[in-house]
Amino acid sequence: MCGIVGYCGHRSAVEVVVSGLRRLEYRGYDSAGVAVGAHGRIVEAKKAGKISNLDAELAAHPLPAATAGVGHTRWATHGPPNDLNAHPHVSENGRVALVHNGIVENWATLRDELAAEGVVPVSDTDTEIAAQLLGRAVADGADLTTAMRQVAPRLEGAFTLVAVDAAHPDTVVAARRNSPLVVGVGDGENFVASDVAAFIEHTRDAIELGQDQVVTITADAVTVTDFDGNDAPTTPYHVDWDLAAAEKGGFDWFMRKEIHEQPEAIANTLLGRHDAAGRLVLDELRISEAELRLVDKIVIIACGTSFYAGMVAKYAIEHWTRTPCEVELASEFRYRDPIVSPRTLVVAISQSGETADTLMAIRYAREQGSKVLSICNTNGSTIPRESDAVIYTHAGPEIGVASTKGFTTQLVACYLLGLYLAQVRRTKYDDEIAAVVAELETMPDLVQRVLDDQDAVMRLADELVDAHSVLFLGRHVGYPVALEGALKLKELAYIHAEGFAAGELKHGPIALIEQGLPVFVVVPPRGRDQLHGKVVSNIHEIRARGARTIVLAEEDDEVAAGHASILLSLPKVSTLLQPLLAAVPLQLFACELATRQGNDVDQPRNLAKSVTVE
Ligand code: F6R
Repeated sequence: MCGIVGYCGHRSAVEVVVSGLRRLEYRGYDSAGVAVGAHGRIVEAKKAGKISNLDAELAAHPLPAATAGVGHTRWATHGPPNDLNAHPHVSENGRVALVHNGIVENWATLRDELAAEGVVPVSDTDTEIAAQLLGRAVADGADLTTAMRQVAPRLEGAFTLVAVDAAHPDTVVAARRNSPLVVGVGDGENFVASDVAAFIEHTRDAIELGQDQVVTITADAVTVTDFDGNDAPTTPYHVDWDLAAAEKGGFDWFMRKEIHEQPEAIANTLLGRHDAAGRLVLDELRISEAELRLVDKIVIIACGTSFYAGMVAKYAIEHWTRTPCEVELASEFRYRDPIVSPRTLVVAISQSGETADTLMAIRYAREQGSKVLSICNTNGSTIPRESDAVIYTHAGPEIGVASTKGFTTQLVACYLLGLYLAQVRRTKYDDEIAAVVAELETMPDLVQRVLDDQDAVMRLADELVDAHSVLFLGRHVGYPVALEGALKLKELAYIHAEGFAAGELKHGPIALIEQGLPVFVVVPPRGRDQLHGKVVSNIHEIRARGARTIVLAEEDDEVAAGHASILLSLPKVSTLLQPLLAAVPLQLFACELATRQGNDVDQPRNLAKSVTVE
């Protein structure tokens, strides 16, 4: 959580830092601030709320000209989101300004230690404690880099710290442990930031940092060491997406743009996955076929929308590979003493690659000797770096807080993984695998057809703009789709929404059905007659009790259509792949409803894109 930027160069530091923060606002938007060193002291501006509040503050009280500075956009952990708790935090002696992403878990002990020496914090934050420690270290004669090397190892938890010392205002120093930080290398200017989006308009040359490293930047130099001061290895890389990809491309919301990017994102995720003979090749996978043949259980761990992608994957993987597959919320996994072994393949799904719950679960699994394969959208992020293997989804940056193309490309990666395992373990014939891959390759066009046919969703959003409660039902792979539809509505429209396995209805939730209650029902394709018939019976049951049925069914499914108050038609596709299509109208519906309600679709209240605390 939180977006941080540091800059040293030849431009106005305030302008560069604030424009970088704007591109990181998806990481948190409780408050924003910027600080520079001028005339031997730190000067800062910070405001609760979105960056527009900081802009107004800077317009009213401009900061002095400076060519180096630090900035922050916050997702509150310690202390309410007000001006006082906004970053940067400045040490009592006015020397050091610090911005921080993460949580310092031993902050109370350190605060008591400082209190015993007469230092009284002015904010409620853990960050200020670290700022005070740095301030004292530089006052004792250490340069900021040395001070950072002294202070960072004393902090427990996850953090990225970026600081500037007013006595040396042309240098910015950062440290990283378990929180994201990348370096941007420019011409006569250098950057540090949570994400390349912050500096991509200035440079596409970046350096990936490892754990427990300190980086010092000036306009002309980047120096990376470990916490002991030894030179540290770094990995330079070139960012292959441009600024336009991070902008809205003519849509009102990033989310809407990202929903419409799904055909391309799915196509990109499928690109180059098989050889001329049609056999799947997953180049990024660094686990040998022999090891994969030994696997006796698969455990998928993920959070939120990624967890629902994992639920779909379970149906596909078990069906294609006949290998037991469990799906578990990452936040629950390591706390229940799970049974995993060196023969367990743990699959971690994460769009951002920074979700703390998932990262901690990965570490636990690796400690037990399991191999971890991650499915991730963010190159160079922590989760793939800490995994034994990775399948990247090539969705491009996902900025809208609600995941959309992240989800559908995760599904594609899960299908590819399932089919690859089936190929390696010989549980499916090559022609059977090729047939599914061929069907997957039709999905970009089919998703485009769903996107081209939005009239019914628009009318529905008009009609339901005042709804207080909406239910979603599905069976088999339609069940996770129902859960995902409900999650999208909760997070964007802030209304009560729940997803159920349709068969569970009669065991309790049917009591919720009342006259006029909108209920979305995901109807499986008719290929599996029993499943289809059961869901149609469920629609009967709720209609008889007055529900307004919004039925998602394949085109020409006249039986399902006959029970629909409103029909959302889907192209014909096989059962296991249907979630790729059925999720799309639900994403659009949530986006439309929230837009009509006047909500901020890209930055829903209380949420952040990248959840880097447990
Ligand atoms: C919902 C949403 C979240 C994320 C969850 C995991 O729209 O985006 O539920 O899916 O926080 O995030 P990642 O996939 O980045 O690990």
